[in-house]
Amino acid sequence: MSGATLPQVVRTRAQLREALAEAPRPIGLVPTMGALHEGHASLIQRARRENATVLISIFVNPRQFNELSDFRKYPRDEAADRRLADSAGADIIWIPSVADVYPAGFQTTVTVGALTEPLEGAARPGHFEGVTTIVAILLGLAGAERAYFGQKDAQQLLVIRRMATDLGIGTEIVACPIVREPDGLAMSSRNVRLTPEARAAAPVLRQALLAARARYEAGERDGEALRAAMREMLAKEPLAEPEYVSCASPETLNELDRFDGPALVSMAVRFGSVRLIDNEPLA
Ligand code: PAF
Repeated sequence: MSGATLPQVVRTRAQLREALAEAPRPIGLVPTMGALHEGHASLIQRARRENATVLISIFVNPRQFNELSDFRKYPRDEAADRRLADSAGADIIWIPSVADVYPAGFQTTVTVGALTEPLEGAARPGHFEGVTTIVAILLGLAGAERAYFGQKDAQQLLVIRRMATDLGIGTEIVACPIVREPDGLAMSSRNVRLTPEARAAAPVLRQALLAARARYEAGERDGEALRAAMREMLAKEPLAEPEYVSCASPETLNELDRFDGPALVSMAVRFGSVRLIDNEPLA
C-alpha cells in the first residue's frame, strides 16, 4: 500500500473505524506522541515489514506528563511528523484530539502494580497510569494484530506487556531496539531541547552504560559495583545531574545486590530542564 499514495489522516473514532474496516490485515500499530525521529522511523519500518497495514497514532497524552511545563514544552510539528511517517511507510496516520480520546464523562484508569513503582514510576508520579490508560485505549480502538514499542523506554515496555497479558489484550507487543546517534546518544524527542553544550555532554549516558557492560563482561555480578561504575562515569561530566542509576532484575525491576542471571542497567539524567533516560540489557 505504501509509497503510491500519501498516508490517509484520520482524526475521529468514526474516521478510524471506517479506515480500518477497509484495511488489509494484519494491522501493525505504532503508538507515538509525535516529534518523530529515526527511532520512530525504525518502528514504522519494522511494522511495514511485518504487516499489510501500518497505522501510526500521534497523540501527546496529557495524562502521562507529571509536569505541566513538560507537556507544554513537548515538541509538536504535525507536518514534519506526517512527512516522516509517510517516508517510513505508514498507511494511516491517526491524530485524535484530547476530547476524542477522553470523551466527556471519561472516568477509567488502568493501573499496573509493582512494576510501575521504581525508577521512572518513583521519579514521575502518575506517569505510568497515564501511559497504561492511553495505551489500553489505543489498543482497544485500533484492534491491531501487533503494536510496536521502543526498548529505550524499557520500563514502559515491561509495564505494557504486563497490562496486555493481565487484561487479555489480543495485540502482540513487539519490542524494537534503541536507535542511537553516531556518538551513542539514544534518539529522543527531548534531544532537540538540549543546549549545544548539553548535547555535547549527553553521550555520557551511553558511556556510563558501556562502563557497566564492560564490568559485567569481565565477570562482575555485584549490582552496587555496576551502579558505582555508572555513577563514576557520569561524575566526569559536570553538566550531567543523575536522577537515578539502576542495576535491576529485567523481570521485576527490583535493584540487584549479588546476582547470577541477566540484569537491566538504566538511568535518568538531567541536563538543566531536559531529562534523558537510557538503558542496556546485560545478559
Ligand atoms: O512512548 C511513547 O511515546 C508514549 O508513552 C506512548 C506509548 C505513545 C503512549 O502515549
